[in-house]
Amino acid sequence: MAEVRMRVNGEPRSVVVEPQVSLLDTLRERLGLTGTKKGCDQGACGACTVLVDGTRVLSCLTLVMQCEDREVTTIEGVAHPLQDAFVEHDGFQCGYCTSGQICSAIGMLDEHKSGMPSAVTEDLESPGELTEEEIRERMSGNLCRCGAYNGIVAAIAEVAS
Ligand code: FES
Ligand code: FES
Repeated sequence: MAEVRMRVNGEPRSVVVEPQVSLLDTLRERLGLTGTKKGCDQGACGACTVLVDGTRVLSCLTLVMQCEDREVTTIEGVAHPLQDAFVEHDGFQCGYCTSGQICSAIGMLDEHKSGMPSAVTEDLESPGELTEEEIRERMSGNLCRCGAYNGIVAAIAEVAS
């Protein structure tokens, strides 16, 4: 067992865990932050996406021990225009994927702003513009079983513009 100290949603938190415990299980089962969802638990769905030092990560593939002295932000700590935009554009149905979609979109918008390329960037007429095609590519790691993709993309596009 080892003690891990980190900041979660701005608060200092400390947990004593076995080395193989994921950030996802720590958030949900030790810290009571159940807004972060477990879908596949193997890096394939994006439901567990949170921000670590502002970068989007899959918390099911992140060991909590990797988060020592880092800032973790979950949906409970997010106050962002994307949340209103998801409501306005019907960006969810059951909502299971939504916290991951929103955390991922926050990270994605920062990645785009900082010039990080995507798989479709070189095919775009204007690489600086966040087109619908590029939003879909950059968000392709976040699956939605309800198929609310049109609303999700519309919400992100509105905030991006
Ligand atoms: Fe982490 Fe699916 S639960 S990617
Ligand atoms: Fe149901 Fe996306 S809203 S899985």
